[in-house]
Amino acid sequence: MLAPIGIFDSGVGGTSIWKEVVKMLPHENTIYLADSANAPYGEKSKEEILQLSIKNTEFLLKQGCKLIIVACNTATTNAIDYLRAHYSVPFIGIEPAIKPAALHTKTKKVGVLATKGTLSSSLFHNTSKLFAEGITVLEQEGKGLVELIEAGKTDSREMRTLLTKFLNPMLDQEIDCLVLGCTHYPYLIPVLKEIIPANITIIDSGEAVARQTKAVLGNLGLLSENQQPSVHQFYTNKEVSVLKSLVGGPNVEVSYLDF
Ligand code: DGL
Repeated sequence: MLAPIGIFDSGVGGTSIWKEVVKMLPHENTIYLADSANAPYGEKSKEEILQLSIKNTEFLLKQGCKLIIVACNTATTNAIDYLRAHYSVPFIGIEPAIKPAALHTKTKKVGVLATKGTLSSSLFHNTSKLFAEGITVLEQEGKGLVELIEAGKTDSREMRTLLTKFLNPMLDQEIDCLVLGCTHYPYLIPVLKEIIPANITIIDSGEAVARQTKAVLGNLGLLSENQQPSVHQFYTNKEVSVLKSLVGGPNVEVSYLDF
């Protein structure tokens, strides 16, 4: 089936998920929406996040997408229940990987770096309650991180200052796992590795999302049998340069669109 997979995020962060999806599903076409004009979602109300998620979903459905990946923890934790209830297309979401961290930790202390919108959601609270019994989950809002990544300042002094401030309290408490609960944050891994000791495991959910996407498409008989090179269309409603710097390869097109 040639219909594309639709992917949206508040901005460029969901491209970390797109990369995993393309690796696992090389025959699929994709359309990616970077709603950077409205980033960060993490500081918005649940209602605003919901309205933006509906707007993105309707755009992707108009493009004929067969499945939508909500490549944003904030949108997933605040809007995916609504989206699943109101649209017939399958949705794959992403949530902070509390369960793998809870299974992995030896110190029984896990840090979660995520947006305010994710940390305050009931979905996040329910997941923590369910999977992290007996584990101390140290939550930290990554206020300001998404803005710096959106501005192309991932490898900057401001970024190091913010991350050090956010991570020091967790390091003092001897976490041994750090969950990246925002799809922008995998781009911080090189800087994080300078700041945190090597014995701390960094966990993100990108590969799990790709695996789940493949499983759902397979179960529904929607996997592409395309033998042509796949095509990847990216749209951003802000300037294209940061997005362009993160994605590349054959048949990748990045365009500005006021969606
Ligand atoms: N990539 C989004 C997430 O995973 C960032 C949210 C934001 O825009 O604040 O939560």
